[in-house]
Amino acid sequence: MKKVLIVVALISSISAYSQKFNKLALTPPMGWNSWNRFACEVNEKTIRQAADAMVSSGMKDAGYQYIVIDDCWHGKRDSLGFMHPDPAQFPSGIKALADYVHSKGLKFGIYSDAGNHTCGGRPGSRGHEYQDALTYAKWGVDYLKYDWCESDNLNGIGAYTTIRDALHEAGRPIVLSLCEWGQNKPWKWAAEVGHLWRTTGDIYNCFDCKFNNGTWFAWGAMKIIDMQEQDTLRKYAGPDHWNDPDMLEVGNGMPVNEDRAHFSIWCMSAAPLIAGNDLKEMPSTTHDILTNKEVIAVDQDSLGIQGFRQSKMDSVEVWYKPLKGGDWALCFLNRGVKATNFEYDWTKQVITDDVAKLKLDFNQKTYGIRNLWTKKTLGKTDKVLKASLSGHDVLMVRLIK
Ligand code: GLA
Repeated sequence: MKKVLIVVALISSISAYSQKFNKLALTPPMGWNSWNRFACEVNEKTIRQAADAMVSSGMKDAGYQYIVIDDCWHGKRDSLGFMHPDPAQFPSGIKALADYVHSKGLKFGIYSDAGNHTCGGRPGSRGHEYQDALTYAKWGVDYLKYDWCESDNLNGIGAYTTIRDALHEAGRPIVLSLCEWGQNKPWKWAAEVGHLWRTTGDIYNCFDCKFNNGTWFAWGAMKIIDMQEQDTLRKYAGPDHWNDPDMLEVGNGMPVNEDRAHFSIWCMSAAPLIAGNDLKEMPSTTHDILTNKEVIAVDQDSLGIQGFRQSKMDSVEVWYKPLKGGDWALCFLNRGVKATNFEYDWTKQVITDDVAKLKLDFNQKTYGIRNLWTKKTLGKTDKVLKASLSGHDVLMVRLIK
């Protein structure tokens, strides 16, 4: 009897620690990360300025929360193995920086790697997972992006479960963002481990190109969204566990129509919205894309259903996403470079969503159509929609019950 009790006590104490922190990401996380714009040129000033601009630009009001330092903040481990930031880049230390970010009403994120080194060649967490988790908790970290460089002999599920358990034992609720580029099919197992997982390799700041980094490719926004295989992967995503097609390149140099299309499709995909531009030097066109609350509301919809590419008319893809309460978001995406005119006869469409188990039949119900970029009403679904789209652009609407 005594033995049985000990075993039961052991099992329950293990299970009390073997879990992720639940309900930290009931909608896709929103924030900013240093990598896409600053790469390794990052220091405490960059991060403070991003936090300041997040508030003053209205991004915080639009829902962005996390300020995340990506790679290259690391200095050396001390004689006991505890990690310290690079003293030249972060002279005031990470705790002071996290306090500053928190004082702005924002949350603070950091980056590490499951291997011996990060992709930028700084010390990784391998063999120091519990120590690093303790350090992050002590510093006041709220979000950890955990990368996959130098992972050759590691087991994906094992490595990410170890850091999950370490974070849990350290006791501070921290969002865990898995970044293993889809290599171990995280959609199949990571809902129990983290809150979001990358589905592909790295994004590159272009609409539809691929960029050769020598030993690996980075991918334009459209390539990423095609690689994410919407149809097969969307069923794995939902509140607290999201497919992550990588961070945003909005404001990093694409023309405004391409930025708008990139942002729209990320919102249709219930993707995490992690801005990657220089927030303090944001032109109004970039600002207006990143802070469009009606488009963001599609991404952040509490139903948490990832949208899908439903059909294609020549160069125009038609994307649907069901929303809470019976509305739907719809996005016409022109993948071609040429402008195009098209007609959309609602009465000929019956939309079935096998994941959400919902059906949309415009012969049964008429919806109002609201253009989410121009904020104008486009009539109702009882009349054929006639629209023109420039190349690499979208018409994104909300169908209102
Ligand atoms: C990998 C990740 C990127 C970024 C870099 C940093 O490539 O996928 O998002 O974090 O490492 O070195």
